[in-house]
Amino acid sequence: MFGLSGEKPLVGLDIGSHGVKALELRTKRKGKTDVFAVARAGYAPLPPDAIVEGAIIDSAAVVETIKAVFAKAKITNKDVVISISGNAVIIKKIALPAMENEELAESIIWEAKHNIPYPYEETSVDYAILKPKPGEDRNLEILLVAVKKDKIAAYSHVINQARKNLVAIEVDAFALFNALEANYPEEFAEKTTALVNLGANLATIVIIERGVPQLFRDLSVGGLYFIENLRKDFNLGHDEAEGLLQGIDARTVSAAEVESVLAANLKGLIEEVEKTLGFFTAEDKREKRIEELFLSGGLANFRNIAAAFEQKLLVPTALFDPFRKIAYNDKKLNPAYSRTMAPFFAVSAGLATRKREK
Ligand SMILES: Nc1ncnc2c1ncn2[C@@H]1O[C@H](COP(=O)(O)OP(=O)(O)OP(=O)(O)O)[C@@H](O)[C@H]1O
Ligand SMILES: [Mg+2]
Repeated sequence: MFGLSGEKPLVGLDIGSHGVKALELRTKRKGKTDVFAVARAGYAPLPPDAIVEGAIIDSAAVVETIKAVFAKAKITNKDVVISISGNAVIIKKIALPAMENEELAESIIWEAKHNIPYPYEETSVDYAILKPKPGEDRNLEILLVAVKKDKIAAYSHVINQARKNLVAIEVDAFALFNALEANYPEEFAEKTTALVNLGANLATIVIIERGVPQLFRDLSVGGLYFIENLRKDFNLGHDEAEGLLQGIDARTVSAAEVESVLAANLKGLIEEVEKTLGFFTAEDKREKRIEELFLSGGLANFRNIAAAFEQKLLVPTALFDPFRKIAYNDKKLNPAYSRTMAPFFAVSAGLATRKREK
C-alpha cells in the first residue's frame, strides 16, 4: 500500500506484540512468475509490556529486538517493509461509478472523509481498485485503507532507531492476502477461502473469493487473551500462564482445570471468528460459503486447533504454510527457525512477496 518503488528485495519485518519476525527472500523470474526462496529468517520474542494493544510502549526494547533478529539471522539488507494492524487501521470496501483517474482521486478523499472514523488529517489513505465483477464493469469496487499517522510515526521511529530503511508500510490483512496468493495460487484463484492469523493481541481475518478480497477484519482476541484468563483464574505469573497455553504443565494447578479454561477460551475464540465469517456469508442473497479455512500465527500452534475450528464451523481447516511455494532449506538456516516456526511467518512472508509498486 504505502510504498516506494524498488527492485531490490525487501526484508519483510513483522513487529508483533509478542515477537519480531524478519524474512528475506531471493527472487527468480521464471517466465511470468516470481519464484521465491528463503534467504534468511529470524525471530525473537518481545517482553510482554513492550507493545501493548498495538501501541509501542517501550521503544528501546523494540529497537533492541529488531537489531537482535537481524544480527542472529545475519540479515545485512537494511531495506524493510513493515505492517501495521489493529484499530489504527481501517479497511473499507466501497463502490463507485466508473470515472476518470483525476475524478477518482477526489472521490476517494470524499469517501475517506465520510467512511473513516478518524479525522482525515490524522490518517494516511491509500486505495486499491478491485477486479470488477463480470457484468458489473460500470462500477468500481474500491478498497480504501486508512492508517493513523501517529501509528506510522511510532513504527517509523523504531525502524530508524534500529538503523533500517523503511521502504514501505503495509497492513497485516494485505500481507496475509499476498501470502495466500503466493503460496496457494489455486485456492486463491478458484475458491472462497478464509485465512485467520491468530497472533497474541489480534486475530486478523481475510476472506478471498476467487482472487478478490471480500472482507478484512482484526478482532481483539489472540494468545494473550488465553494467557490473561489463565493468569487470573490460577493466580499465575505471565510466563507460567503462557507455559500452560503452550502445553507445559505448571506444578501448582490441576491439569483438568487448565483444560477446562483452555477449552472455554478456544470456544470463545472460534465463536468470534464464526461471527465475522457470518458477516460475509450472510451479506447478500446469493448463497456464499467458505470452502477452505487456513490458520496461521503463533496461536495456530495450539494443539489440534485446526480440528477444533473444522468441527465447529464445518469448513475444511488446515494450518497455513507460508513456505508452501517458497523454497526453504532447513539445513541452511538456523535450526531454531525450522519448519515448526512456519505459522509465525505468515505476515512476514506476505510482506516479502508483495508486488513492488511501480
Ligand atoms: N505452541 C503454542 N501453543 C499455543 N500458543 C502459542 C504457541 N506458541 C506460541 N503461541 C502464542 O502465539 C502468540 C504469538 O503469536 P504471533 O507471533 O503470531 O503474535 P504477534 O504477531 O507477536 O502478535 P500480534 O500480531 O497479535 O500483535 C502468543 O500469544 C503465544 O503465546
Ligand atoms: Mg502478528
